[in-house]
Amino acid sequence: MMASFTRFLLLFTAFSLFMPSLSVDVSYDGRSLKIDGKPKIILSGSIHYPRSTPEMWQPLIQKAKEGGIDAIETYVFWNAHEPLRRQYDFSGNLDLVRFIKTIQNEGLYAVLRIGPYTCAEWNYGGLPVWLHNIPGIQLRTANPLYMSEMKTFTTLIVDMMKRENLFASQGGPIILSQIENEYGNIMGPYGEAGKEYVNWCAKLAESFNIGVPWIMCQQSDAPQPMINTCNGWYCDQFTPNSPNSPKIWTENWTGWYKGWGLKDPHRTAEDLAFSVARFFQYRGTFMNYYMYHGGTNFGRTAGGPYITTSYDYDAPLDEYGNLNQPKWGHLKQLHSILKSMEDVLTQGSVRDINYETLVSATIFSYQGKSSCFFGNAKSEDTTINFQNTMYTIPAWSVTILPDCNTEVYNTARVNTQTSIMVKKDNQADDAEEPFVLKWKWRPEHHFEHIKKNGFVDGSVMTIEQLLDQKTVTNDTSDYLWYYNSFDLKKSNPIWGKETTLQVHTSGHAIHAYINGKLVGSQYADNGNYDFVFEKKIRLKEGLNHISLCSATVGLANYGANFDMVPVGISSGPVRLIAKQRLDNLRKFGKKKYILEDISMELDHSKWTYKVGLHGEEELKLQDPYFSQHQKWSQGPVPTNRMFVWYKTTFKAPIGSDPVVVDLMGLGKGHAWVNGHSIGRYWPSYLAGEDGCSSECDYRGSYSDSKCLTNCGKPSQRWYHVPRSFLRDDENTLILFEEAGGNPFNVKFQTVTVGKACANAYEGNTLELSCQGGSAISEIKFASFGLPEGACGSFRTGSCESSNALSIIQKECLGKESCSVDVSEKSLGPTGCKATNRLAVEVTC
Ligand code: GAL
Repeated sequence: MMASFTRFLLLFTAFSLFMPSLSVDVSYDGRSLKIDGKPKIILSGSIHYPRSTPEMWQPLIQKAKEGGIDAIETYVFWNAHEPLRRQYDFSGNLDLVRFIKTIQNEGLYAVLRIGPYTCAEWNYGGLPVWLHNIPGIQLRTANPLYMSEMKTFTTLIVDMMKRENLFASQGGPIILSQIENEYGNIMGPYGEAGKEYVNWCAKLAESFNIGVPWIMCQQSDAPQPMINTCNGWYCDQFTPNSPNSPKIWTENWTGWYKGWGLKDPHRTAEDLAFSVARFFQYRGTFMNYYMYHGGTNFGRTAGGPYITTSYDYDAPLDEYGNLNQPKWGHLKQLHSILKSMEDVLTQGSVRDINYETLVSATIFSYQGKSSCFFGNAKSEDTTINFQNTMYTIPAWSVTILPDCNTEVYNTARVNTQTSIMVKKDNQADDAEEPFVLKWKWRPEHHFEHIKKNGFVDGSVMTIEQLLDQKTVTNDTSDYLWYYNSFDLKKSNPIWGKETTLQVHTSGHAIHAYINGKLVGSQYADNGNYDFVFEKKIRLKEGLNHISLCSATVGLANYGANFDMVPVGISSGPVRLIAKQRLDNLRKFGKKKYILEDISMELDHSKWTYKVGLHGEEELKLQDPYFSQHQKWSQGPVPTNRMFVWYKTTFKAPIGSDPVVVDLMGLGKGHAWVNGHSIGRYWPSYLAGEDGCSSECDYRGSYSDSKCLTNCGKPSQRWYHVPRSFLRDDENTLILFEEAGGNPFNVKFQTVTVGKACANAYEGNTLELSCQGGSAISEIKFASFGLPEGACGSFRTGSCESSNALSIIQKECLGKESCSVDVSEKSLGPTGCKATNRLAVEVTC
């Protein structure tokens, strides 16, 4: 009997492995999205596959699932997949199919935003720069050349998904797909052609017959059956443009991105939860966190310009994949409550009661069951009388009562621990403590290829015109050299005078050399990417060489015609200016003269272009395999020297905590670990001094200038080194330093929870946990009653139980995690007159 049952089980399993998965029907009406006919509340989170590594995908998705997420959203990044026309790359962290299958294996849904324009603070908004260089093309409008390229790429992606049965209609996880991205925000300047383009996009999408709905975000004129959706910090007041479309929020911004020279933006857990609860109070059916995990802009993928390598976004999972607490946990609790109310929210009758401006109650009723939301969007607490009971709703919060009677969740009452992350020095097995890095170096020989006669080896082209950087480089490098050689005769009016080199550039950085000597550098600052560089120079008689290195720091990714924003020394003028003594005047008996500028324009003289760094393009110094065949100096390591390559080896930190490299002391450049780019670095670029505060008031609308930290510090000091980039034996770090810096403070560290604080109200369970196997080593504070202060500065209040500390010690000390029921029953009587609260601070 037993044997035949086992055989049956084996047969069944084998059969089901070969059986195509059952198709899932995704439909909708004006109220909700439906999966197999069942109306749903769907909680989704953005994780962009190229912003982490394939090894990180499963753990990230699993943490999202544990956090109560049902679906993972991603854009598709065209320029990453097709860097050169018809040369495709779907390998490594670009393996889109593997990413979607990882989502599927975790049992989650997927949302595929094909775009193929993405925005996303991604270089050039995800469009390949070679598009720009097709004669006659205009991007994101009714232009046959663009439409043909867009169709080719979107067809490729759709076919790839279909081939792997990844659409829900084929049994796959993809329940929604997006065409274009926020075109509605910027379509005005495109006029009629823009409208034509939107209609064409909709027809193209439909023609793919993918069997799941299409969305168009921020497109209030989205043609049916495209569902127009909302993006923003709040979308409760959004209404789609058709009564048949459900209310979908494609981007609930969990924080904000960061730019070089800017501070760290934070959005509180309270405010984020408030926005989500309000959205579902006002009949939302699908909400996506943008980002749930922001990750890292590896390589040259950061757009902007001036977007940092970190794309942490203050998301529920931090850049490295750690839980960002209390955000992750506070939302997790909200998710489980919302899911428990799915039927009543999506199928119930609804009644709103407005008590006063910004104070409301919403009652959902279905099959004899009622669920309520009480919302208070004022900055003060308020009290309402609901069915003869008085309820206090804290300021800027939503209270959820799944039975319209018991308050189960309030968005402003956080019961989850706050984790304070710390960096620990590299404790590699046999490392000295701390691990001391030994450096080798070599200069970037950027003039190696200039011959005496001005001829440039390996140049791309010579033309009597200044060209936009994108046009020449196809964006294969941040660097473009503009070379010019001219013969200066004594008869030239500028000969022998004090001369100024003047260069108008559209950014983002310029380094100018005259006859091989640096005369100056300038970096665009404060968002002024278009600037004039001016420096006094000395010329010689005969042949003079001007070498201008223009460096970009990510291309624009947003706005009408963002693709046309010039970069580099695109149109000049480039001039040599000398002062000429013009006139002798005799006025009131004094000798006077006028100095007048005479200038020599070089715009239409012969310019020779060379793309990229000699070390990167020709010698491949960034790759340890090739770089070992090159000569590296072991002699005194230069500091504060521009255009230098540095190389060192290190041992991987032990354990499983995420690894970062602290690049404090360096200037600006690019870093590689074992040949993998870990992105651009620029720790010398400090954020401004003003506008930060240690306290952050969650009340009132969030904006990216609210709740800033990191004033006066490097915008980004630590750079993520995914563990999969590391080897057990020796690892190599290679830096290209453009601006000049000091590598001696560079160190590898791990990121982990250093301290955890928790604050839980009576009736909840307090959960505390460390990370990566480390245990709670000390209870620094514990008080149950009316404790005061915030994490790090908790104080005992006017009343407390005398047992709390010893109980917490017993439950938590020496353990990786613990949980405590917050009640007088387990923690002892307090004698307090208000709701008791437990505050705890522990060291991990
Ligand atoms: C939206 C855009 C996203 C992202 C976001 C800001 O407008 O759709 O791709 O750029 O802004 O992070």
